[in-house]
Amino acid sequence: MKTLIVYATKHGTTEECAKILAGRLEGEVELVNIKNSEPSSIDMYEKIILGTSIYAGNGQPEIKEFCKKNLAKLKEKPLGLFISCMFDDENQIRAALENAFTPELVSHAAAAYAFGGAFKMNRLNFFEKTIVKLVAKQSKKEGGPFGGYDGKTDISTVSDSKISEFAKIINAA
Ligand SMILES: Cc1cc2nc3c(=O)[nH]c(=O)nc-3n(C[C@H](O)[C@H](O)[C@H](O)COP(=O)(O)O)c2cc1C
Repeated sequence: MKTLIVYATKHGTTEECAKILAGRLEGEVELVNIKNSEPSSIDMYEKIILGTSIYAGNGQPEIKEFCKKNLAKLKEKPLGLFISCMFDDENQIRAALENAFTPELVSHAAAAYAFGGAFKMNRLNFFEKTIVKLVAKQSKKEGGPFGGYDGKTDISTVSDSKISEFAKIINAA
């Protein structure tokens, strides 16, 4: 039994989630960072897992493209989908999952989860730091995706128990 995890990360958090998940899955697991290489075929894998981070509500373009290209085949296999993001509202999470992977694949998936996200400030460029500060400020006033976060310090909302729960579902799929 072979499982393929294809992920897209900008600053490493999705990759960290993918690696933790890989360690909790039964059988052989292959990890592919789609920003570096693309699997030539998914035929040889029994189960597929796709992961991406979310920026301004959007999944990474490489994952969107991969879903479009492989839609028919992905719908034939046990599938797991995860996002790394700061959203904790169920409607925003559902919208981000559907944006990243298509509504069709979200409906087909055995598990579609948000594992949480992280801000490691030294990994962000000037433009990203400015956006994070602005959104954090706005969120404090109006309530928003970054809650009570100050926009300056490193934080992680990645949930170890969500990754375990997801792995359990995929192992049984
Ligand atoms: C400029 C910027 C925009 C972001 N936009 C969103 C967003 O719209 N929704 C959200 O939930 N998280 C958002 N995030 C948080 C990221 O999704 C989170 O940091 C994620 O863990 C990054 O994963 P990566 O390092 O694998 O790219 C944003 C982060 C940055 C820096």
